[in-house]
Amino acid sequence: EKGGYEHFMLKEIYEQPRAILDTYRGRLLADQGIVKMAGIDQHIEKFLNANRIIIVACGTSWHAGLVAEYIFEDMARIPVEVEYASEFRYRNPVITENDVLIAISQSGETADTLAAIKLAKEKGAFVFGVCNVVGSSIARETHAGAYTHAGPEIGVASTKAFTTQITVLTLIALKLAQEKGVFSESKYHEILTELESIPSKVERTLESNEIVEQISEIYKDSSNCLYLGRGYNFPVALEGALKLKEISYIHAEGYPAAEMKHGPIALIDEQMPVIVIATKKGHYEKVVSNIQEIKSRSGRIIAIVTEGDVQVRELADHVIEVPEATECLTPLLTTIPLQLLSYHIAVMRGCNVDQPRNLAKSVTVE
Ligand code: M6R
Repeated sequence: EKGGYEHFMLKEIYEQPRAILDTYRGRLLADQGIVKMAGIDQHIEKFLNANRIIIVACGTSWHAGLVAEYIFEDMARIPVEVEYASEFRYRNPVITENDVLIAISQSGETADTLAAIKLAKEKGAFVFGVCNVVGSSIARETHAGAYTHAGPEIGVASTKAFTTQITVLTLIALKLAQEKGVFSESKYHEILTELESIPSKVERTLESNEIVEQISEIYKDSSNCLYLGRGYNFPVALEGALKLKEISYIHAEGYPAAEMKHGPIALIDEQMPVIVIATKKGHYEKVVSNIQEIKSRSGRIIAIVTEGDVQVRELADHVIEVPEATECLTPLLTTIPLQLLSYHIAVMRGCNVDQPRNLAKSVTVE
């Protein structure tokens, strides 16, 4: 049932080109320049008239929510707040009938996310679910929703659920952008076509597996690790750190690259691997100067770069290439080597990759 892979996690990492395609199949009609999503179409006014969108989730799904914040504000020009479901539900939050709440959950069973939904409904908000498990509690409790269609995710560490959540949320943002006329027809077409090419780019990114494995061998005994990214790739840094923590038990932190000088830079020495997402487009020059700061403090740099990059290659100890993509779609690519890195390190450390200690696939208690 692991399809020849040693672990479910690896199988699920490799399923991503297919899973992303399944997620946009029938929804993304790039040649016609349309995004079709029944759950959105039926409630389009709710979204278009929303004062703001509140996203609630936990863990990896919360990271997908953070990526969505950048995408929604950029494409749909609607203010977005992203909340940990557990904090939101206990905070006496201000919610009105003009708010749209999007709950993101792979399992559809996470207790805190479910409670946040109930609270928002009581206050009259429109609640939309992005779930993977069909017929799950969250799918049933929400007013409308869109499934990710990633297929069953067995590994406790979420991988394909994350990339397909981002895919669905991107489709929603594109749909709203079209309704609001945010982009020119040609720009809109361009993004749709690019999204359509993501599965093959993910496929190409997976070819970095061997390099990632070699890098893992070098850093597998580290006790700390820092992940940095900016803009759309800041949440990817958080997600990379979470993946490493949960399956390899190495302490890792994700930070927006520019925040480094406000504290974490004090941690950097030759023992500290720093994984930096430094793709072209998206504050590239600024990330390059962050890399220089790390280098001058003898930190070890593993950089995720765009194919053909030369500038970062000169500075970094290791580079992992991803294909070029429009900035808002880069998280779908940059996240792949980080999944592989945590996977290989965990395997090399003899950890139980699919069922890490103290963790459950769905957290149904608060
Ligand atoms: O099923 P959900 O998406 O609601 O689960 C949320 C988190 O529990 C989950 O993403 C968790 O953080 C994963 N183990 C991360 O890999």
